[in-house]
Formats: sequence, structure tokens, C-alpha cells
Amino acid sequence: MSVISLRNVSKSYKGLTLFDNIDLSIEQGKIYGFVGPNGSGKSVLFKMICGFVFPDSGKILVDGLEMGKSKRFPENFGIIIDRPGYIANKTGFQNLKELALIRGKINDDKISETMKIVGLEPQAKQKVKNYSLGMKQKLAIAQSIMEDQKVLILDEAFNALDAESVERIRNLLLSYKEEGRTILITSHNKEDINLLCDHVFRINNHKLESLDR
Ligand SMILES: Nc1ncnc2c1ncn2[C@@H]1O[C@H](COP(=O)(O)OP(=O)(O)OP(=O)(O)O)[C@@H](O)[C@H]1O
Ligand SMILES: [Mg+2]
Repeated sequence: MSVISLRNVSKSYKGLTLFDNIDLSIEQGKIYGFVGPNGSGKSVLFKMICGFVFPDSGKILVDGLEMGKSKRFPENFGIIIDRPGYIANKTGFQNLKELALIRGKINDDKISETMKIVGLEPQAKQKVKNYSLGMKQKLAIAQSIMEDQKVLILDEAFNALDAESVERIRNLLLSYKEEGRTILITSHNKEDINLLCDHVFRINNHKLESLDR
């Protein structure tokens, strides 16, 4: 069974057609890349997959259950889409702790460990409002992975990261794939896509065009 499948999905905004009857099957343990110009619908596609936005027609199934009907939010998803909302006056650790309390799955040590993995200092007293762009991005990555989410939906996860951090996060994602996790990414950087992805789709003429050779 596919982890995620889209069947005959169409989506428009006030006369702006983004997707016209698209189908997609996402299999476990692979990395999928989605490319296309600004405004082509990559983020909207990810939002539909996560149940934040509904298609005009067609079905989206996650683990065989239809989103919006039997399933609201897929709890085993780790997500970065657009700019995540933070509590500006709290530290990075405190922000992650707030999020961790929602599910109660992980302890403080796991939060600290995850911060170190992405290159943030868990003990730092700096508030998130004073974080640099790249540090905010690392915090977004940390929240998406800290609960060992089985499916990662990462919209432009590499934005604003320095070269060394890009390398580290790429290796991290490849190690997750080896563990059997499923990852969807968008990136405007061809190298990210080429190095990481097993399958690549380009949004072209409101369809998903497979770029696999
Ligand atoms: N809630 C909304 N209401 C109206 N239009 C929207 C809405 N959300 C997205 N759009 C439009 O849908 C189109 C696709 O947006 P989307 O953010 O998915 O593009 P993208 O491929 O992710 O672009 P980028 O590469 O810049 O991130 C854009 O023209 C955008 O303005
Ligand atoms: Mg986008």
C-alpha cells in the first residue's frame, strides 16, 4: 500500500488552475522531489497532502485513509511548510518543548539531542526573535524530526542554511531513508534534488511530470 496517494486531484484558486486531475503514489522508504517555478503549486501540493488545504475534487489517501474524512492530520508526519510560527520571546529549546508537550512523546533529552543534530545549541539563552534566518530554519527542521516522524514533508528545508549545514541535513535525510522513512522535498537547488531523490516530479501544465529516467 502506498503511504500517500492522490487520485484525480484538482485544485484551483479563483480561476488560477494549479492541478488538473493529478495522480501520485508515494511508496515507503524513498525520497521524492517536487520541482517547478515559483507559484507552480509545490507548497499547495504539500498543504493538501497534510490536510491543511482541500482539493476541489479527487481524493488524498494517507495510509489508505481519506484525508478530511476518516483522517484529519496524519500524526506520523513531520512537516515544514512556509514559515513556521514561533513564540518569539522564548528560546529555541522552549519553543520545541511547547510543541513536544502537544503529543507528550519525547523528553527534554530528545529535544536537546535533536537541536545538536541540526546544529543548534540547546542551552543557548537567545530568544527566537533574535535568531538568524538559518537558525530559524534549523529550528523548523528540528521540530519536523524530533519525534522520529515516519514521513517528512519538507518544503524548501535547505533555505538559508550554510554549506556545512546543507551537507549535514542531506546526510541526515539519507540516513532516515535507510531506516525506511519516507521523505518529500521541494528545492530550487538542483544539487539537493539530484543527490537526494529517488523520484522527481516537475509541475508542468497543471500535471505532475515524472523526471525519472
Ligand atoms: N490560499 C490561497 N488563496 C489564493 N491563492 C493561493 C492560495 N495559496 C496559494 N495560492 C496561489 O497558488 C499558487 C501556487 O502557490 P505555491 O505557494 O504552492 O507555489 P510554489 O510552487 O510553492 O512557489 P515557490 O517556489 O515560490 O515556493 C500561487 O500563485 C499562489 O498565489
Ligand atoms: Mg513554495
